[in-house]
Amino acid sequence: MKIESTIQGLSESLKTARTNQKIIGLVPTMGNLHQGHLNLVREARKKCDIVVVSIFVNPIQFGPNEDYDSYPRTLEQDSKLLEEVGCDYIFAPTVEQMYGNQPRLTNISVSGITADLCGLQRPGHFDGVAVVVTKLFNIVRPEIAFFGEKDFQQLAVIRQFVRDLNMPIEITGVPIARAEDGLALSSRNGYLSEEHRKTAPIIHQCLKIAEQDLQQGKKLADVLANIASTLTQAGFVIDYVEARTPELQKIEEFNQNIVLFIAAKIGTTRLIDNLQVQHNA
Ligand code: PAF
Repeated sequence: MKIESTIQGLSESLKTARTNQKIIGLVPTMGNLHQGHLNLVREARKKCDIVVVSIFVNPIQFGPNEDYDSYPRTLEQDSKLLEEVGCDYIFAPTVEQMYGNQPRLTNISVSGITADLCGLQRPGHFDGVAVVVTKLFNIVRPEIAFFGEKDFQQLAVIRQFVRDLNMPIEITGVPIARAEDGLALSSRNGYLSEEHRKTAPIIHQCLKIAEQDLQQGKKLADVLANIASTLTQAGFVIDYVEARTPELQKIEEFNQNIVLFIAAKIGTTRLIDNLQVQHNA
């Protein structure tokens, strides 16, 4: 495994693979890797000849009061984990390498599906993700890119601009990795106090109960209200509890396959989770 920190270095490393028509897979990450990220790499390993993992904490997707400065940067530990799961190249550029020192005048903005859910609390976040992911696609030129379903809205946004702009890349979503108690793995779980870490799995429990309730015929509005009240009683401050189609369209009733979404804060940590619920007609 090789670590490249420059665009030129990575391009040179990938030249032979490209000439030999090898399938290149990209796993974009911000580092501080956990089993969720490693599952993406394992999936990439199965489908691709060459696996590139990018590690870059992207400043332009963080809001002014968010955790850009304190976001954990753990390259040494990440490299060990990536070596074990068979990554070929880590691409770990500096901010200057990615953005240069000339002003950036181009933006990529997906409308509609970014207007609410996480987009409401995090204005500009998805533009920042779209720009950096597009840059990574242009730098690495992968055939396939892998993203976690935990960030379901992000995955929908990426699929959308790839389709809208005819980017020749297959996007693969990989299911959420969970701790034994159900908490969705996230680099931000490291911010939780011991007490809040014990409370956090309630989010997943609520989603599972909601799934059962819906499949037993309870009304969608009541099920969502029930999640909200359980979380509030447990000490969460709710950002949103919503049900959408897999394409993120709003729905009033459970009459098709849907996705349940939760974003809630416990202490100062904002957690997100989701569950795809099958409608068995
Ligand atoms: O999901 C993430 O870790 C980031 O949003 C991504 C896709 C690596 C872009 O910075």
